[in-house]
Amino acid sequence: MKGALDDFKLMLTRNEPITGLAKVVAFLVLFALGVVAGLWVSAGIRRSQESIVTRSIGFQGSGGGICCRPDLDPGFEEFVAPTRLMHDMTDEELFWRATLVPAAASRYPFERVPKVAFMFLAGHGVLPLAPLWERFFRGGHEDRFSIYVHSPPGVAINVSEDSPFYGRQIPSQETEWGSVTLVDAEKRLLANALLDFSNERFVLLSESCIPVHNFTTVYDYLVGSRHSFVESYYRNDRGCRNRYSRSMAPDITLRQWRKGSQWLELSRDLATSVLADTRYYPLFRRHCRPSCYPDEHYVQTYVTLRHGMRNSNRTVTRVEWRAGRSHPVTYGARDATPELVRSIRTSAEPCAYNSRPTSTCYLFARKFAPDSLAPLLNMSSTVMHY
Ligand SMILES: *[C@@H]1O[C@H](CO)[C@@H](O)[C@H](O)[C@H]1NC(C)=O
Ligand SMILES: *[C@@H]1O[C@H](CO)[C@@H](O)[C@H](O)[C@H]1NC(C)=O
Ligand SMILES: *[C@@H]1O[C@H](CO)[C@@H](O)[C@H](O)[C@H]1NC(C)=O
Ligand SMILES: *[C@@H]1O[C@H](CO)[C@@H](O)[C@H](O)[C@H]1NC(C)=O
Repeated sequence: MKGALDDFKLMLTRNEPITGLAKVVAFLVLFALGVVAGLWVSAGIRRSQESIVTRSIGFQGSGGGICCRPDLDPGFEEFVAPTRLMHDMTDEELFWRATLVPAAASRYPFERVPKVAFMFLAGHGVLPLAPLWERFFRGGHEDRFSIYVHSPPGVAINVSEDSPFYGRQIPSQETEWGSVTLVDAEKRLLANALLDFSNERFVLLSESCIPVHNFTTVYDYLVGSRHSFVESYYRNDRGCRNRYSRSMAPDITLRQWRKGSQWLELSRDLATSVLADTRYYPLFRRHCRPSCYPDEHYVQTYVTLRHGMRNSNRTVTRVEWRAGRSHPVTYGARDATPELVRSIRTSAEPCAYNSRPTSTCYLFARKFAPDSLAPLLNMSSTVMHY
């Protein structure tokens, strides 16, 4: 399959119509067969406990009018919101399928409650702060979020069966700090999350991230935002300008080059657009190598280039940098004080939210060490309201 895709890409660049075209046709037919087979198989899967129907509470329709039978067909239900996340699709197959967009997107034949997809990149296969997140997620919000975890292949996250993290690992591949494999993992998380048609906002998190506001606040903030939160800036310095490679021109010029935090948040259509991009991504794969780090440049540059107006250009995940250090500050048990968390919850410098100034600029923060868990749990209800 990978070979066929490479041929396809080659054909696009080289313009070899006859043999190339035959391959493309074969390629598309294979995919179509795969999708049909997938639908057919999933139709046979028994109805799962997590029912779409339970998600309908409080939903004020998005102009539908064709809603909804009380008992959805189980196969259809599994198709619109997969409950079993493991599959054998290659990245190419997965990304292609994830970018299928319903032409009648405003008329869902089921009660669609927009959800926030929390996507965890667990580089070491552990989530030491999971107990804090479990508190954040509890309290009857099940219909408004979904969780996805990318950990190293073969590493099972150790959580109990009643944890919202249970069974939420996606098929993964090895990642290496600073390499394009991190962007691939990000795209894999986005793609798996896109398979659930109710996911509307997509936030990327690490194992050292914490939520500094409660679920309601986070949900309303993200779902109500007209912009995505991808930090994006340009600086005429070593860390930004010097990472640009002239080989990326003319597709990406120095004027278009951007940098920003890896920890981003995307709306559904921007997430789809990132996965659908076949023009810019290969340039990063080829030309953005250490000391250029694709996770700090690719989505940031792409979103600014193609969807600049839709982006807030800031991140909702706060991190502290100190001058002269190449890594951000890590907070241990002694640093994780109510004062620190309050200062993150309410920013001294205002930022813009839907074009109005606000002091709520950050919903999440990093980097918190495993031993900060106890003090954080101790203050979760008094300081963070969850
Ligand atoms: C998983 O977590 C439980 C409870 O914290 C612990 O007892 C057990 O040893 C852990 N298992 C592994 C393989 O780490
Ligand atoms: C969430 O936090 C806000 C303050 O940050 C508070 O006003 C609100 O009552 C909290 N919501 C719930 C459901 O606890
Ligand atoms: C973010 O940056 C883009 C490109 O520079 C700009 O068009 C857009 O207006 C900015 N967004 C906001 C909310 O200011
Ligand atoms: C928990 O918080 C209270 C104040 O709310 C504080 O007095 C106490 O020392 C804290 N305990 C720990 C273990 O951090």
